[in-house]
Amino acid sequence: MRWGRILLVSLVCLGFPHIDDGIGVPRPAQTATLPGIQSNIPSVYATLAADFPVGAAVWRGALRGPHGELLKKHFNSITAENDMKWEHVEPVEGEFTFGAADELVSFAKANHMLVRGHTLVWHEQNPSWLFKDAQGREMTPTPENKALLLQRLERHVRAVVSHFGTDVYAWDVVNEPIDPGQPDGFRHSAWYRITGTDYIVTAFRVAHEAAPAAKLYINEYGTTNPRKRALLLKLVRKLKSRGVPIYGVGHQMHVNLDYPRASAITKTVHMFAALGMDNQITELDVSVYRNDQQYSSAPAALLVRQGYRYRDLFKCFRKLRGSISAVTFWGLADDRTWLTHYPVDRPNWPLLFDAELQAKPAYWGVVNPRRLPRPN
Ligand code: G3I
Repeated sequence: MRWGRILLVSLVCLGFPHIDDGIGVPRPAQTATLPGIQSNIPSVYATLAADFPVGAAVWRGALRGPHGELLKKHFNSITAENDMKWEHVEPVEGEFTFGAADELVSFAKANHMLVRGHTLVWHEQNPSWLFKDAQGREMTPTPENKALLLQRLERHVRAVVSHFGTDVYAWDVVNEPIDPGQPDGFRHSAWYRITGTDYIVTAFRVAHEAAPAAKLYINEYGTTNPRKRALLLKLVRKLKSRGVPIYGVGHQMHVNLDYPRASAITKTVHMFAALGMDNQITELDVSVYRNDQQYSSAPAALLVRQGYRYRDLFKCFRKLRGSISAVTFWGLADDRTWLTHYPVDRPNWPLLFDAELQAKPAYWGVVNPRRLPRPN
């Protein structure tokens, strides 16, 4: 037994030479001592098969060992949490590095899973060269810089989308372009300052040219906020009227136990559907916090409340079947979630499976709410 454990730890260590990428950090030894996944519970994606595919955002470390087993059992779609972002795939101008993203795509193909591409254009996680002018200075809004930036964008989108081809069925083409705090409603990122909204049009046009069958989305958070929603609706209408090949809207859905209400989600999805847009839930998680609390371990009562919250969310999503074509969780299990670093460093437990990969009340809220413990 002891030698078996030592051998297992050694094998896992060999298989995970660079596992620490700074977030959530499942260490090899920790992985080896995980109890293993529950084989006797229903698969999430199989339970929801009549509604929509169910995905998880992952990194390459989640493909192996018990994490890989959990991913295969419960999800039939994956998204790269970070590995398809600009700083990862084109860190140096004209030099593309697809290693990690290719691993995710190979895993998905081998296991008959869909791949959502995330994301072609964003204001975060860009390499420093991207917004430098021909002389290496920070770009200012000039016609020359606009032309240069759009040229870089076109090359990037064409290269990335062509590389994955039909292996990626949907792309978050533009991420988070709206800022309700601005009088004009647009996020004043370097993209916007230098190109106006032309970066959006170019990104969609080129993505469509490179993969005509791919479904192309604008992805945004806080879409139930009335002002933000109105601004996004206006943008979508404008893009459609200009013939931009936008297929749908991605609603990130980083939510908490109370906000937004399911009725606001329903209303929002209906509003975009009325414009002919498909809708996808692209980054679902449910934080257990509402303000600046901090718990050192997960309060059981809150986890039960979270189970009921997931029940209500999925009741809402399932009713919207036909208008919502996919739901993706922003992570696989609570051992690794961006919410342990945002908005401050603190533990959080936003997903369906706990840090030992075991089903939480949240899981039962999605799969079979009758199994939820009584709320207290
Ligand atoms: O890879 C480096 C590592 O080498 C270094 O040691 C470590 C030190 O902090 O940082 C690592 O990079 C981190 C990266 O995640 C990978 O783990 C970055 O610091 C960290 O900023 C980055 O955070 C990502 C964040 O986007 C960037 O803003 C999160 O993982 C990712 O979940 C998050 O995802 C976004 C979606 O793309 C868009 N919607 C919001 C969502 C949540 O912020």
